[in-house]
Amino acid sequence: MRLGVLAVACSMLVSGHDVITTKITWSREVSRLVFAHCASCHHDGGSAFSLVTYTDARPWAKAIKEEVLERRMPPWNAVKGFGDFRDDQGLTQEDLEILSAWVEGGAPEGDPKLLPPAPRFDAAPKQASKPSGTEVVVDGRSKLDRSVTIAGIRARSITDGASIQVYALLPDGRTEPLLWLYNYQRKWDRTYWFRHRLDLPAGTIVEASPASSGAVALVAAGPAIASSVPSRAR
Ligand code: HEC
Repeated sequence: MRLGVLAVACSMLVSGHDVITTKITWSREVSRLVFAHCASCHHDGGSAFSLVTYTDARPWAKAIKEEVLERRMPPWNAVKGFGDFRDDQGLTQEDLEILSAWVEGGAPEGDPKLLPPAPRFDAAPKQASKPSGTEVVVDGRSKLDRSVTIAGIRARSITDGASIQVYALLPDGRTEPLLWLYNYQRKWDRTYWFRHRLDLPAGTIVEASPASSGAVALVAAGPAIASSVPSRAR
């Protein structure tokens, strides 16, 4: 009789734990995503708490799901697919589905033998590269009075929480989306480097809207355009 009661109590304890309902595991899938997209900041000695081991990450599972679905992590400020940047650490839709399914399914560890090699961190964490080329400030609507090749773009004076879309309207009629900052947070400020440099011919109109959100700066490739001052289009 006594034994029976004990057995019931034990099984209740076990079922009180998270029930594992997913085949997605930390060791096989999730660690790879975290190492590639999160660990550069989230490691011991990095800019945020460690997410490098299962023991580190497990208590954060619910928060991880929330942060990535809300697009707050990895911090990027820019809307994916608007402009094409070479250092975009953002997660794809498939990555998001893997992370949420893992969390929803009880965040299992899986077989540690399947873990990828632990990420290595250089002494200094990668800094957002400082703008090096000449800058062309765009405040509202500006017309380029000479051609410029741009390598990147960055916020110049955007208020926290503001959003802004920046387009180039080329003289041949094409519209090139450059950057869409959404709910901009200054603490994540960075220069966005284009995957491919963009040639903006003279006469291109660069528009940042709404203008009330502030100004952005185009970072020119090379020093050749020092005298290029955009004239205000009317
Ligand atoms: C550029 C550095 C950086 C990257 C990359 C990054 N994080 Fe973070 N993360 C931070 C910092 C710094 C904080 C501390 C909170 C803050 O300042 O907002 C944080 C906070 C968090 C939090 C806690 C939020 C809270 O307060 O509840 C979670 C969860 C998180 N990050 C998950 C992730 C995940 C998952 C990834 C990868 C998909 C990731 N982070 C990528 C820097 C980063």
